[in-house]
Amino acid sequence: MKRAIGIFDSGVGGLTVFKSIREKLPAEHIIYFGDTARVPYGPKSKDTVIKYSIQNALFLMQYNIKCLVVACNTSSSVALPVLANRFDVPIIGVIRPGAEKAVSITKNKKIGIIGTERTIRSRAYAHEIKEIDANCQVFSKACPLFVPLVEESWANRPETKSIAKDYLQVLLKKDIDTLILGCTHYPILKPIIEDIVGKKVKIIDSAQAVADMITQEIAISKNGKLKGKNKFFVSDNIKKFVTIGRNIINCEIEDISLVSLVETWYPNR
Ligand code: DGL
Repeated sequence: MKRAIGIFDSGVGGLTVFKSIREKLPAEHIIYFGDTARVPYGPKSKDTVIKYSIQNALFLMQYNIKCLVVACNTSSSVALPVLANRFDVPIIGVIRPGAEKAVSITKNKKIGIIGTERTIRSRAYAHEIKEIDANCQVFSKACPLFVPLVEESWANRPETKSIAKDYLQVLLKKDIDTLILGCTHYPILKPIIEDIVGKKVKIIDSAQAVADMITQEIAISKNGKLKGKNKFFVSDNIKKFVTIGRNIINCEIEDISLVSLVETWYPNR
């Protein structure tokens, strides 16, 4: 049996990453874990997010995955070094691919980042961007209302647009020409965000950037004849995951099971 790509996220939002990978690498098997019992990670402490991330990774490692994609920006921003130290398989987060893409696209070297509170406070995107090009200026804004708005299927409501305007104004004043959507849920708000920032600002979707990176970095056959299988696990509420998720990936989520992550799966780090 071919080894699968493992993906985890705090919940349903990581399906934006799943979708990009599925489109790029249709022959691959993918196992997705959404930690729906403990979402959201964005407002939680660094230690808690690291603990949850290790538990999620340990769960997926049981399936002998060939690489682990940390689809959650919040986990990627604080837990990646710990995971990379601990596990032997390649670990791919969303921060570096998004940062690389932004640096390659910006003309005026003024890059905006939006994400959860934890992601923005970690300064992980700023750190990566500066490492790639020290001349870039980075402006960040936490948008804590975006995740619940997406989860409530309010993406197309006028209220959401006015909240988005409020959040984005401060970045637009800084004359950014590139904006990183540094959260799994934000690609769903892309049409609204595009409308507000206008054509002059290029939007970087970390979900797409990570799929490009996997294709380049890991020896994966793009042209396998067999269609890869998808298996989904969640830690709570299958029904809600399936209802929101099918709209994200534009197809039914069929093979899905409930798991309970045991707290004792957090041995010494
Ligand atoms: N998956 C999270 C992220 O990309 C968003 C949802 C949450 O706060 O857990 O940062």
